[in-house]
Amino acid sequence: MTEPCTFVIFGATGNLSQNKLLPALYHLEQAGRLPEGVMIMGFGRREWSNNNWRKEVEKILIPRARQGLDAEVFSRFCHRLHYFQGDLTDVESYHRLKTALSDTSHFPDNLTFYMAIRPAEFGTVSNNLAAAGLNKEDNGWRRLVIEKPFGYDLESARLLEERLHRDYREEQLFRIDHYLGKGTVQNVLVFRFANLMMEPLWNRNYIDQVQITHAESQGIEKRAEYYEGAGALRDMLQSHLLQLLTLVAMEPPAMLDAESLRDEKVKVLKSIRPIPPSAVHAHAFRAQYGRGVVNGEKVPGYVEEEGVAANSTTETHAALKLYIDNWRWRNVPFYIRTGKRMAENRSMICIRFKHPPQQLFQQTQLEQVRPNWLVMGIQPNECLRLELQAKPPGLEMKTRTTTMDASIRGDEEEPLDAYEALLLDAIEGDHSLFLRYDEVRWAWKVVDPILKVWSMERDFIYTYPAGSWGPMESNRLFDRDDQTWRNSIFADPEDGTM
Ligand code: BG6
Repeated sequence: MTEPCTFVIFGATGNLSQNKLLPALYHLEQAGRLPEGVMIMGFGRREWSNNNWRKEVEKILIPRARQGLDAEVFSRFCHRLHYFQGDLTDVESYHRLKTALSDTSHFPDNLTFYMAIRPAEFGTVSNNLAAAGLNKEDNGWRRLVIEKPFGYDLESARLLEERLHRDYREEQLFRIDHYLGKGTVQNVLVFRFANLMMEPLWNRNYIDQVQITHAESQGIEKRAEYYEGAGALRDMLQSHLLQLLTLVAMEPPAMLDAESLRDEKVKVLKSIRPIPPSAVHAHAFRAQYGRGVVNGEKVPGYVEEEGVAANSTTETHAALKLYIDNWRWRNVPFYIRTGKRMAENRSMICIRFKHPPQQLFQQTQLEQVRPNWLVMGIQPNECLRLELQAKPPGLEMKTRTTTMDASIRGDEEEPLDAYEALLLDAIEGDHSLFLRYDEVRWAWKVVDPILKVWSMERDFIYTYPAGSWGPMESNRLFDRDDQTWRNSIFADPEDGTM
């Protein structure tokens, strides 16, 4: 049985807490999955009472509750909500927090601290918690959930890790990557390892290329301060997209426990061919959105966004070509890309298979049979589709792309938010979908050379109109002329365009 805990949110009034954490906790309440006794404490600067906070949470949840805010569920949820006024940088606040939490008639002994704060504050908060003895597990466990980005580059990640390990054991640390909580992402493992059919084909003999795309139509919203220092490579690629790559590429783990899974993911990251500085341009591409039109509305360019420097060369679009030097994947390109203000919101993994070895249909109207693709849609469409070629009825020898659809979520089924699964895992102490430090370190090793070269080239960046699929120049990453970005989940059945 899951033990109850007090869930303390640092940054309780911030974006992450409003958009993700509080709605996820509410939906867990609604689903009856929050163990009895779990308390949620918002830590914030404002002078609020519990009642102010509950009213605030109601306002936050009204537009975000999936089927509208349910009065009965919210009233149950309200009983769990507490507010604590404190200053993140002031140790005294943490001593007071400790005293407040020691009232065990209200608060369970176990404590989960969630860092929904700026990355620069992770070290301060974890230190201050330890200074007040809130890292000590004398009565009940203490867990620290840390959002990405974990560090700013390889070296800063190492320093943060050292700092955390002074006061916390690895078992206490939950480095979250919310992509691992997404339905299709978990399905990658099930699809690969619960079915026999794909495994013989899942290698360099049959796979021509793998593409992983995360495109967003939104811009940087109000996050210029963070985004200017991060850019798309750190914000999405180093974390979420490299995690997706590991799941596609890993070997079957010995068992499904957290360590076996993470061991296999680390092996993939270690096998990624290092990119020397001289090869950065052949393997990495960056660009920035200019003005354009998104969903019929004119939007400003990146450098016109509030808080962005007029001469900023921070990338809002990044694409990489990576190779995994192991027996399974040698010389299969993995193309991964992300972008803000792209034409649509679309995240997907697309795997293109090779052509059959014999061009049997050469003498027919078919000049070139189109290749098979396996498309795993992550969002907004969660789907799993295998494209095959078949002959449509008629006298001519033609092919049409047909699809075997293994999607499992019906339209009537509500998608869960990734945070729901992950918050529950953190409360239950399951590390499987959280990152171990060596994963983070190896992921930084992959992108570090690119970051270094880009940081020295600050006078030029390609641009693309907001609302487009990014600049044509990113095609330079492809190994061959017949390779190109796949932008759509669906292929045109007649001509195979995507
Ligand atoms: C976050 C990034 O980690 O992931 C954001 O910081 C990005 O910039 C977001 O928009 C995308 O997540 P999701 O779940 O909306 O696809």
